Amino acid sequence: MEASSDRALLLLRILLFCALASAATILLPLATRPCANSLSRTILAVTGLDPYLISCAGDASEASLSEGDGAGKKPRSGGPIVTDLLWCGKPDLPPHALPPFHCCPPMPSSEPINFTFPDPGEPLRTRRPVHEVGAEYMAKYARAVALMKALPHDDPRSFYQQANIHCAYCTGAYRQVGRPELPVQIHFSWLFFPFHRAYLYFFERIAAKLLGDPGFAMPFWSWDVPEGMRIPAEFAAEASPLYDPIRNPRHAPPTVVDLDFMDVEKNYTNEQQIQYNLWAMYKQMISNAPLPSLFHGQPYRAGDAEKPGAGTVEIYPHNTMHGWTGDISRPNHEDMGVYYSAGRDPIFYPHHANIDRLWEAWRRIGVARGNRRQVDFTDPDWLESSFLFYDEEARLVRVSIRDMLDMGRLRYRYAGVGLPWLSARPPATPGVNSRRGKLKSVSFPVSLDAAVSVEVRRPGTLRSRREKEAREEVLVVEGVETDGADFVKFDVYVNAVEYEKVGPGGREMAGSFVTLKHPGKEGMVMRTSMRVALNELLEDLGADGDESITVTLVPARGKARIGGLRIVYMAE
Ligand code: C2O
Repeated sequence: MEASSDRALLLLRILLFCALASAATILLPLATRPCANSLSRTILAVTGLDPYLISCAGDASEASLSEGDGAGKKPRSGGPIVTDLLWCGKPDLPPHALPPFHCCPPMPSSEPINFTFPDPGEPLRTRRPVHEVGAEYMAKYARAVALMKALPHDDPRSFYQQANIHCAYCTGAYRQVGRPELPVQIHFSWLFFPFHRAYLYFFERIAAKLLGDPGFAMPFWSWDVPEGMRIPAEFAAEASPLYDPIRNPRHAPPTVVDLDFMDVEKNYTNEQQIQYNLWAMYKQMISNAPLPSLFHGQPYRAGDAEKPGAGTVEIYPHNTMHGWTGDISRPNHEDMGVYYSAGRDPIFYPHHANIDRLWEAWRRIGVARGNRRQVDFTDPDWLESSFLFYDEEARLVRVSIRDMLDMGRLRYRYAGVGLPWLSARPPATPGVNSRRGKLKSVSFPVSLDAAVSVEVRRPGTLRSRREKEAREEVLVVEGVETDGADFVKFDVYVNAVEYEKVGPGGREMAGSFVTLKHPGKEGMVMRTSMRVALNELLEDLGADGDESITVTLVPARGKARIGGLRIVYMAE
């Protein structure tokens, strides 16, 4: 009954579209390229059809916004990643996903407008930590969320549509313009920080508008400082609009967050957990992130396959905090624990405000430490990659990364909460590598069913301070393949064949690979890579002058295959 009336409605829409399209063909030669002009937007807006149904694929060369290289030819590789609503269709959701099953935004009837900066005279919003803003302020955030939830679902400013934005950008609903076979993915690459900054920018302005409070600023959940290391009570009160019943019940406050979490409760004391969290922060913000591609993630350009490699903070604590918050009793760990549904939990936004704050902190630390390489990319493909958002006036806006680099011009800032992890350099464990001489040889690719130790030769050694400032020695874990429909974590130890003897978060645990379930069919392989910076680590391990290092890969969850290990020098 339901299904057949759905089908009738679809048929009617297709008929309506055909009628409009053929009328347009007579009137306008433009309409022979149905995806390349605003008329087709109007038609799609009126009919509500999925753009994939009318196949925009034939319009590739016209639709490619940045690199029109002549009619009829395939677009070149390279160039920025560009998204367009005409290239948004059905998402790839994991099995047992919760509805809704579509997440493209409403189709506007006109072309998107280009982003313009807010008036410099606008009040500067100060985002403050949830644990400091006070109950009254949190009630305001709750009211904003309630107002968004009360808007009709087809209003792009509604909470429903705000949550859908995340789904559309991480489930392959958007395709690269002109390349229907290539999904757009804003995780596991250099798009991660700027995309989420833009997302929050509009979310915050919509909240301010609905509240009638032009200076309203998002609170942030500072899980990186001890005072913020639990779910703030406001999010856990069942009657609050900030509550989400689909979370891990064991992690309700006052449980302390575990920034290294993957499914298993560890039963540390609060003091221990806090200390391990600070060490984890230090590694991801300081030792492992001295270069833009290490912090932000790998370059990702038009024509590239998705997920070339995530930056340090994205892998953890970002991914692990998603996993820690979501409900692990559900097959996909909704809401926070899986990309497609994460935006449905109101804690997602304060969580990401903290991620955004860490981006700013990373830039400032670079300046403070005089590391001239600890700066954002200047690559035009990064700067010109663009996303679409509806603003507080419900206008569709095209935002490029270039627009998102200066918080002052965006009229917001972060209140300082201190960075206690700055000095949390983790301790080394002596005597855990004595068996290194007896290693069996390993032939790659290798399935990580059990821990694997490999001797990796260094291409040379960086001895002087000058050399180390100029170049970073980096361990590249290449060809990481995981089942896209699985949660996977493995840890990378350096010079610790007896890794079991290294305490949690100890120095030899150089980094982890963490992924949540990616959308897609079961059995679909996710391919990516991972990097661990070595300069500071080898100094701390007293291994500066060695010709090789021992790398031990230890599986913690799910199945991974590793293509190879290699050490390179990087200067960006
Ligand atoms: Cu887009 Cu926290 O994920």
